[in-house]
Amino acid sequence: MITMKDVSKRFEGTGAAAVDNLTLEIPNGITVALVGPSGCGKTTTMRMINRLIDPTSGTITVNGQDVRTVDAVQFRRHIGYVIQQVGLFPHMTVAQNIASVPRLLNWDNRRIEARNQELMQLVGLPADMLQRYPRQLSGGQRQRVGVARALAADPPVLLMDEPFGAIDPIARTRLQNEFKQILARVKKTVVMVTHDIDEAVRLGDRIAIMRNGRIQQYDTPETILSKPADAFIENFVGADRALKRLSLFTVADVMSREAPNPALPSIAEDVDLRDALSAMVAARADRMTVVDKDGTTTGTITQTAILAA
Ligand SMILES: Nc1ncnc2c1ncn2[C@@H]1O[C@H](COP(=O)(O)OP(=O)(O)O)[C@@H](O)[C@H]1O
Ligand SMILES: [Mg+2]
Repeated sequence: MITMKDVSKRFEGTGAAAVDNLTLEIPNGITVALVGPSGCGKTTTMRMINRLIDPTSGTITVNGQDVRTVDAVQFRRHIGYVIQQVGLFPHMTVAQNIASVPRLLNWDNRRIEARNQELMQLVGLPADMLQRYPRQLSGGQRQRVGVARALAADPPVLLMDEPFGAIDPIARTRLQNEFKQILARVKKTVVMVTHDIDEAVRLGDRIAIMRNGRIQQYDTPETILSKPADAFIENFVGADRALKRLSLFTVADVMSREAPNPALPSIAEDVDLRDALSAMVAARADRMTVVDKDGTTTGTITQTAILAA
């Protein structure tokens, strides 16, 4: 668990506090998205967790330990950190980049080699890419390497600051969905910063909406979208929040086992309801036949069931 209690940060020579009396509890094993407009204090909040920035006042603990009492450099080796533009070392190969923390921890070569192979598989990159240099990779590939590097020594906590910020919009959605699956597999406590509410909804188990250094609402995506606490949040999540909320559910959640009609257009069980509704509108169909991964028909979904969700 990560706790922040009455934490403030005031940078020297600035007026308002960058982070203003913030209190937040993050249970182990979940992903929390810190989201809000540029300059609201997201990055500062996150960097105080791994002591890249020290708070002006307040207390931060990670698994019960006050972060001020630990050696900052040692401590950071146990917290994975991913930033926009990745910050890979350009003169080092992918293998050397990924192994940077394990080397500091004095792992032997065989263990490092095995771990590199395992991580490439986890993040969906071919093992022969280990010998390349960062400039020989695409933006998305670099971002995967950045995550592999952050996970290398298996830290319990992963911090990610705008990890998809430099990726083009089409690749971004795909990468986000893949990362969601990776995160589900590694079971880390993840704190992710983003200014993109869609990204927060897609990846966060909980979302903390920040404004002017404070947390305005800390809730599940579902509650943020269905019950925004105030006008600022309502505006921030967007007028299409009802549609966004549909993206939290899949066809499988609302389909009926009712005898499928093979004459109807079909849709896969794992499609989210926002996309399902869109497909139905495009096909001018008020019901569709649901199929599983193997293409076997499993039931029926209706527009009425989606709208009731
Ligand atoms: N090193 C710094 N020195 C002075 N002011 C800073 C520094 N870092 C951030 N700030 C200010 O603190 C506020 C919050 O910044 P930041 O946490 O980076 O916001 P966000 O990540 O939400 O965009 C901003 O007003 C920013 O200008
Ligand atoms: Mg930032």
